Amino acid sequence: MLTKLYFDILREIIYQNTGIIFDDKKKYFIENRVKEHMEELGLSSLKEYIYRLKTDRKTIKEFISKITVNETYFYREYYHLRALAKLVQSENHPLPVKVLSIPCSTGEEPYSIAIVLNEVLEDTNKFEIVGVDIDIHAIKKAREGLYGKRSVSKLPSQYLEKYFNQVEEEKWMIKDFIKRRVKFYEGNILDRFFVKGLGKFHYVFCKNLLIYFDEKARTQAINNLYDVLMDGGFLFLGHAESISRSSSLFEPVKVEDTIVYKKVSEEEEDEW
Ligand SMILES: C[S@@+](CC[C@H](N)C(=O)[O-])C[C@H]1O[C@@H](n2cnc3c(N)ncnc32)[C@H](O)[C@@H]1O
Repeated sequence: MLTKLYFDILREIIYQNTGIIFDDKKKYFIENRVKEHMEELGLSSLKEYIYRLKTDRKTIKEFISKITVNETYFYREYYHLRALAKLVQSENHPLPVKVLSIPCSTGEEPYSIAIVLNEVLEDTNKFEIVGVDIDIHAIKKAREGLYGKRSVSKLPSQYLEKYFNQVEEEKWMIKDFIKRRVKFYEGNILDRFFVKGLGKFHYVFCKNLLIYFDEKARTQAINNLYDVLMDGGFLFLGHAESISRSSSLFEPVKVEDTIVYKKVSEEEEDEW
C-alpha cells in the first residue's frame, strides 16, 4: 500500500518532470504503475525506487511512459483538420507549410495533418510536420507508423487505401512518401529551450494535454507555444481547452465552425 507520504513524493516527481497533476483519486492508478515498474526493475524498496527515479534518466522516462494517457486516433476532432485546410488554402500562404503537433502521442495526429495537407496541396514538398511527445515509447511507435483497427476507424476508407499498406489482417503501415514528411522528437512542452530549438511554425496543434496541467504549467506551455509560432500563426487546442479571454498573446478566431487562436504579434507588419 502506497502511503500518503510516498504518494505525495511520487506526484511531485511527476509534476516536476511533466507538469501533470494527479489528484487523490488517482492514488490507486499510480500505486499499480509503481508496483509494475518496481517488479520490472527487480526492486522491493520504495525508497530505493524513488532514489532511482530521482537519479536515473532512463528510469524516470520509463515511469513517465507508464503514467501518460496516450489516447488518440486518426481524424480525431476532424473539424480542426477542416479548419487547417481552409487556412492553408488562403491566398499567398508561404510554403512549405510548417506544422507542429505537441503532444503527438503515437503519431495519429501529425500523420492526419500530413494526409490533409497532401490532399489540399497535392505535393509533399509543400509541407513539413514535426511531432513531439514526452513518452519515449509513444515516439517509437509514431516513428514506426504501424496502426491497428481502432486507430484508423474514423479515417475515410479511400485515405486508408491511399496512404497505408495493409501488412496484416488488422494492421496498416503508413506509406513512406507521407512518413518522410513527419519528423518525431521526444521532449517536454515545458522545456523552453527544447521547444525553441524546434524552429518556427505556421500552425501548432496542442490538443488534449493542457487539461492534465495546473494553471502554472498551462501558462508556461502557452508561452512556449507563443515563441514557436510565427507571427500571425495559429494555435489549435482540444475541445475542452481554451486560452483565457484576458490573454494578450492570442486572439480567438472562428474558422469554419471552430475556434482557433491567432498569435498576436508584437509588430503587425511582420505577419505572413
Ligand atoms: C491524450 S494524448 C493527446 C494526443 C493528441 N494530441 C490527440 O489529441 O489525439 C496526451 C499526450 O501528452 C503527452 N504528454 C504528457 N505530458 C507531456 C509534456 N509535458 N510534454 C509533452 N508531451 C506530454 C503524453 O505522453 C500523451 O501522449
